[in-house]
Amino acid sequence: MDLRGEGRCLPYNAPPMAERFYITTPIYYVNAEPHIGHAYTTIMADILARHHRQRGDDVFFLTGTDEHGAKIARAAEAAGRSPKAHADELSAKFRDLGHVLGATNDFFIRTTDEGHTTGVQRVCDALLANGDIYKANYGGWYCTPCELFYAEDELGAGHECPIHGTPAEWTEEENWFFRLSVYRDALLAHYDAHRDFVQPQTRYNEARRIIEDRLEDFSISRSRITWGVPFSWDPEQVVYVWVDALLNYWTALTYAQPGQDLEARYWPPTVHVLGKDILKFHAVFWPGLLMAAGLELPRKLFIHGFILKGGEKMSKTTGNVVDPFPFIERYGIDALRYYLAREIRFGEDGTFTQEGFEQRYATELANEFGNLLNRTVAMVGRYRGGTLAPQTRADPELASEVAAQVAATREAFDRFDITRAVEAAWVLVRRLNQLVEQRAPWTLAKDPAQADVLDRVLLGLLEGLRAVAILLWPVMPTACERALAQLGQPTRKVSLDRAVFGAGEVGVPVVPEAPLFPRVEPDEPE
Ligand code: ME8
Ligand code: MG
Repeated sequence: MDLRGEGRCLPYNAPPMAERFYITTPIYYVNAEPHIGHAYTTIMADILARHHRQRGDDVFFLTGTDEHGAKIARAAEAAGRSPKAHADELSAKFRDLGHVLGATNDFFIRTTDEGHTTGVQRVCDALLANGDIYKANYGGWYCTPCELFYAEDELGAGHECPIHGTPAEWTEEENWFFRLSVYRDALLAHYDAHRDFVQPQTRYNEARRIIEDRLEDFSISRSRITWGVPFSWDPEQVVYVWVDALLNYWTALTYAQPGQDLEARYWPPTVHVLGKDILKFHAVFWPGLLMAAGLELPRKLFIHGFILKGGEKMSKTTGNVVDPFPFIERYGIDALRYYLAREIRFGEDGTFTQEGFEQRYATELANEFGNLLNRTVAMVGRYRGGTLAPQTRADPELASEVAAQVAATREAFDRFDITRAVEAAWVLVRRLNQLVEQRAPWTLAKDPAQADVLDRVLLGLLEGLRAVAILLWPVMPTACERALAQLGQPTRKVSLDRAVFGAGEVGVPVVPEAPLFPRVEPDEPE
């Protein structure tokens, strides 16, 4: 059965040459408060979404909350309220966090949305009609924090879950099963034909190995819990929360914009961004389900690492979480976005430390970038009354260095290498600081014979900083718009093709302002 385009409206007119870019984050469980791990994924996906908008791509960015299943039902019970009341409150916190983070998602999905639940039922109906669903008895070790059955040999001596360290529970039920095993060859063929399907490469290898070694049918229903989407043909059972959750990436497009056929416009996803804890669901179950449903597979999965604390994954289940809000209040959201993008190589594990954060804030943001902007604006004010003559020409060597780093940034983003992209912009920041030191505008200003040289140096700084602000805009949107304003440039003109020398407006006055990254007093000892 084909699930595409059942009598929906004509596609909305996207710009004719625009590339489609559909990006998602996992939808987060509402069993507990959001922490910096969730903020991390949302910020990284937002950086990618913003970068692609800068390129003129037709972007759809999706995030949201995963609200069904035993884990949520138990959390609600512990809080003494109904699952829906609990989900409403927690989902709102995740949505608010998105706003605080500056996330530009186009839709926020909740799996309790009616549009989602009917979509899940439709897909399950299609799987049943295809003969991919059957009923069987099952007993297995279930980890509720993972919402996953484990084989005995995957668990510790006391049946501890490999991710959470908490014991799995023996569970027996009569369930509906999904015939994943029949898709084994098709999945392997897909992996072989698309070597970049899962990135980084180590995760690709890991996922392919699971398919090769251990691809089993899995239970897609639960009979003992009621907090979920009932099957249309068997309301006694609810859809397994992971099937329910994965389908969000498709159902969202069916109802996010009433009257618009977003499915025709955006399916399949360009990239799913997720943490390595949920690799198997996305890289094995999800493509199997899509094959069975007759839907095209996502182009890519990008799997990032864990933010560690004391050497362990920060997690709601283990409780060693860092609250992002105090950092945002103190240093601003742009600083947090920058720190996470730069400190943790995207795709690898990393550690969040307050000292590391403060150090990067003081040296890189306040000093190297913020101070450079300040000095530049001040020098243009002091030596040229705030405005360079419109006929001033820029240094061609500097122009080609900017072009090289713009190309490096693009190329890094093509590989989802956000950390490298930030580093490319920083090559320019350092180059411009070096220019100030080498050319010493304060000395040039004393010699009228050097007036042209001084003009050229100042224009190089202005245009170089304008390019830097555009390159870093996806990472630090507010700070970069403020930087553009100080340079006398329109703050909305951040498309990537404007990050070239000469694209800026010359002969406009600079606008001195407070520092972008003000000094923050260190914490008082308690
Ligand atoms: O797994 N480091 O939801 P979840 C980095 N509902 N990223 C982290 C992190 C950490 N310490 N902790 C959490 C679920 N994350 C399911 C997903 S999708 C169809 C359903 C991020 O609330 C990371 O993206 O447990 C991880 O994959 C996700 O939050 C798990 O969020
Ligand atoms: Mg989790």
